[in-house]
Amino acid sequence: MTIRAKRITVDILMTICFILSFDIRWPVIGGDLIFHIVVGSATAVLFFIHVWINRQWLISVGKSRKAGKLNKKTQWQYRVDMALIVVWSINILTGLVTMGYAIAGADVSNGFRSLHSLTATVGLVLVVVHVVQHVRTIKSYFRSKKSV
Ligand code: HEM
Ligand code: HEM
Repeated sequence: MTIRAKRITVDILMTICFILSFDIRWPVIGGDLIFHIVVGSATAVLFFIHVWINRQWLISVGKSRKAGKLNKKTQWQYRVDMALIVVWSINILTGLVTMGYAIAGADVSNGFRSLHSLTATVGLVLVVVHVVQHVRTIKSYFRSKKSV
């Protein structure tokens, strides 16, 4: 599998699991809490793989940023990427804590759940911005499927 094919596979699976994670707030297929925890955890793992595949970009752009050599577009991509990493890390951690409360049979309506809900909303907006920033790459994936 080429790196390009890996990127596309991870991007597609991540988008599907990400959308399904919101079924707990806007139920379409009516998945329960277990379903949410499974797809939410799968999304978390796929986010990690996605960032790992793109780590070289983050390292080299981080260095150029320190040297003051970034154009505005790349600077904004970097800022959004950093915000995504912070917001989704908080979301996943608070999801795990809320799951702990649910397993213990305790009341889940606490600050952790509120933060989990807030970061899911802010994170969704950031993902939309991130996808818009990469719309050309995504279009190119569709245009040259044969070269994958
Ligand atoms: C926690 C969530 C996410 C993080 C931290 C993240 C981070 C990154 C990073 C660091 C890059 C490489 C640098 C760049 O070009 O900006 C990148 C590229 C990209 N991201 Fe994301 N991303 C996330 C979610 C998503 C989602 C949900 C999609 C939906 C399709 C997506 C689509 C893309 C695309 C198309 C690229 C270009 C390279 C590639 O296909 O891997 N990202 N992302
Ligand atoms: C991308 C990943 C995720 C998204 C988008 C997401 C989103 C959400 C949303 C929107 C809610 C409803 C909160 C509300 O409306 O008040 C929720 C609840 C919850 N999530 Fe997540 N979540 C994700 C990952 C996870 C993970 C990884 C876990 C645990 C392993 C988790 C565990 C929970 C729990 C326990 C609840 C509380 C359900 C209840 O009210 O009983 N979530 N999540």
